[in-house]
Amino acid sequence: MSAEPLALRGRLLRFRDNPGAVGPAASHEYVEDGLLLIRDGRVEAAGAAAELLAGPARDVALVDHRPHLLLPGLIDTHIHFPQTQVIASFGTQLLEWLETYTFVEEQRFADTEHAARIARFFLAELLRNGTTTAAVYGTVHAGAMEAFFTESHRQGTRMIAGKSLMDRHAPPALMDTAQTGHDESAALIARWHGTGRQGYAVTPRFAITSSEAQLEAAGALLAAHPTCWMQTHLAENRDEIVEVARLYPWAEDYTQVYERFGLLGPRSLLGHCIHLSDRELRRLAESRAVAVFCPTSNLFIGSGLFDLARTAGGADPVRLGLATDVGGGTSYSMLSTLGEAYKVLQLQGQVLDPLTAFYLATLGNARALGLEDRIGALTPGSEADVVVLDARATPAMAHRMERAARLEEELFVLMTLGDDRAVAATYVAGARVENSPPTP
Ligand code: GUN
Ligand code: ZN
Repeated sequence: MSAEPLALRGRLLRFRDNPGAVGPAASHEYVEDGLLLIRDGRVEAAGAAAELLAGPARDVALVDHRPHLLLPGLIDTHIHFPQTQVIASFGTQLLEWLETYTFVEEQRFADTEHAARIARFFLAELLRNGTTTAAVYGTVHAGAMEAFFTESHRQGTRMIAGKSLMDRHAPPALMDTAQTGHDESAALIARWHGTGRQGYAVTPRFAITSSEAQLEAAGALLAAHPTCWMQTHLAENRDEIVEVARLYPWAEDYTQVYERFGLLGPRSLLGHCIHLSDRELRRLAESRAVAVFCPTSNLFIGSGLFDLARTAGGADPVRLGLATDVGGGTSYSMLSTLGEAYKVLQLQGQVLDPLTAFYLATLGNARALGLEDRIGALTPGSEADVVVLDARATPAMAHRMERAARLEEELFVLMTLGDDRAVAATYVAGARVENSPPTP
């Protein structure tokens, strides 16, 4: 956190609400010559540069980012930190992909030194992509999770993370037990949940790799620690669903497995949610759980097309998150993720307009995490995580921008052609991050 106050000047864009709910005009605030005044890691004021520079920002160090855009730091609601060397693994769908690549790689995280090195790479890569908060899966190893939180705490990033609970259908080296998984999670919660900007997510990986006893233990952890999050995978792949039906013959459907063990609630983040029945969608809506759309992953592992209109539209909408799901996903960039979300919806005759897209990557994902009072909107008093975006970052983008007159067009160029190259700077709690590539 920077002790000295700081003023950032640029084209300020913040969302107030979902454009789908309140209309495009009321959804956001855009100040062409804007200023963010930051003190003690928080936003003190945000508004017109002329006014603030004549008043409270008068003697404050100024960084002029014009003509770039200033937005809240981007938020990724589902990503795996042990999969930075799994990303771009060829030729398989979910269950084979897990066995062939992921469960092999994750065994390396028994080595805490390795985990610490990967945590440094992972956080640097997120920040280089303008992502300042993420909901993060670890491996089964408590020591690796400790290394991750230690690094995130040192850097001051707001991360929600948890060690994976896995007590069956995985290599022996990747398994805990219902009891050890519970106890290690409880110890990590005691040490890290609410320490600085760190938060804990109880993380049963998915129904296939947890016994009923383990899911019950996960439910007990959540009941004992109601401010923790819960993250898991749900209805990503058809073979996965067949296997879940075999393992839980009493369950009416996949969602009921999690429901039975008290794992559905407003702090539950459910990755994928592609193949769900009407009953399941209704239960997700009623429980206020969050369906997390991971477009690059769904395309890359061939899982299917997330039906946004059916899931988050209609009379009984399910809350929505948007995420990369690296390493099933193929990009750390939430900009690329928005572009791929647009294409997934195009294939189904649906549209993701650019204002809604940028709402989702900022305030929408903050709301999905229940953190909208702290991050995602740069409101006074909130934490000063900021991304500076340059829509002319590459020759192709600059060339295309010659024909872009309106803000919406610029945002669409950013989500269609942009990625880490469009991130001119990232600030974490008011401190500028050195955005050079991390050591591999
Ligand atoms: N389901 C269970 N584990 C995983 C994982 O690591 N990635 C994805 N995409 N799906 C999963
Ligand atoms: Zn995942």
